[in-house]
Amino acid sequence: MGTNHKLILGSCTSMAELSSGSVHLMVTSPPYFNAPFDYKGLFKSYEQYLNILRHFAQETHRVLQSGRIVVLNIDDMLIDGEKFPIVADATKIFQEAGFRYRDRIIWKKPDGYLRISRRSGVVLQNPYPMYFYPDNLLESIIIFQKGKFNYRSIPQSVREASKVDTKEFQEKKWYMTLWEMNNVMPGSPLEKDIAAFPEELPYRAIKLFSYKGETVLDPFAGSGTTMKKARELERNSVGFEIKKSLLPIIKEKLGFHGGQGNLFSNRNDQFEIITRQTDNYEYLRANQRA
Ligand SMILES: C[S@@+](CC[C@H](N)C(=O)[O-])C[C@H]1O[C@@H](n2cnc3c(N)ncnc32)[C@H](O)[C@@H]1O
Repeated sequence: MGTNHKLILGSCTSMAELSSGSVHLMVTSPPYFNAPFDYKGLFKSYEQYLNILRHFAQETHRVLQSGRIVVLNIDDMLIDGEKFPIVADATKIFQEAGFRYRDRIIWKKPDGYLRISRRSGVVLQNPYPMYFYPDNLLESIIIFQKGKFNYRSIPQSVREASKVDTKEFQEKKWYMTLWEMNNVMPGSPLEKDIAAFPEELPYRAIKLFSYKGETVLDPFAGSGTTMKKARELERNSVGFEIKKSLLPIIKEKLGFHGGQGNLFSNRNDQFEIITRQTDNYEYLRANQRA
């Protein structure tokens, strides 16, 4: 049996295409508040950014089945010497949307991580007090739950087919609140100019919090990393992405580009695209300029 993958090119502040309770797991990384490279000017203020998170949290609560999990990769943002407490604010927003705050995992990138600016270097140039800002090697992965999960609702055969590999669980230390994972290298062809997370992140989330044949949602799909892992792990997926121009990247990453290197040619997987006309980045930018 094949899996279904649906991409909606539009903003996840409304998920009108999805019926209530139709999703089993949400894994995502929202845009960083005013990160210079990809979102410059997308948010007029921090309050506007938090409002987008509010709509997305409320819609996620609606579309998620009762008992199910949200995995949110997010972090505080330092802009002009001021740190915006995004993790704390997002936690509050998800609680207010009706979720229970269940856990927090810290993702540690390798020492010498390339993408960050070397803020600590300022002290080397000015070895005096008051010049210190540390280099940030960490991001948060916050986990929420909608009510209580009914373990008996899953047929025994599906439980067995979705079993967690305990050897991998122990060897890769999934059991700790510290996950050491490599970041995506800048300049990787399918993630260029996209703040993509490593495949390992949705891979762990999907294995730990969903069963085969279920539906995984990524409302900020980016290059489609979550959707790709969902397909590989025999789950269905739904993605929202505001930037229409990412469609070819997403198609290729998921293996639906029709050319050589297509994944799973032996499976009858389906890919559906829904394009909203005015609810996208290109339209908004063009109309802001006009
Ligand atoms: C941090 S990136 C996600 C990267 C993704 N995890 C990956 O591995 O490629 C956030 C994405 O959210 C998109 N985005 C921003 N605002 C959005 C919105 N309101 N609705 C849907 N997508 C949005 C951006 O265009 C960007 O591609």
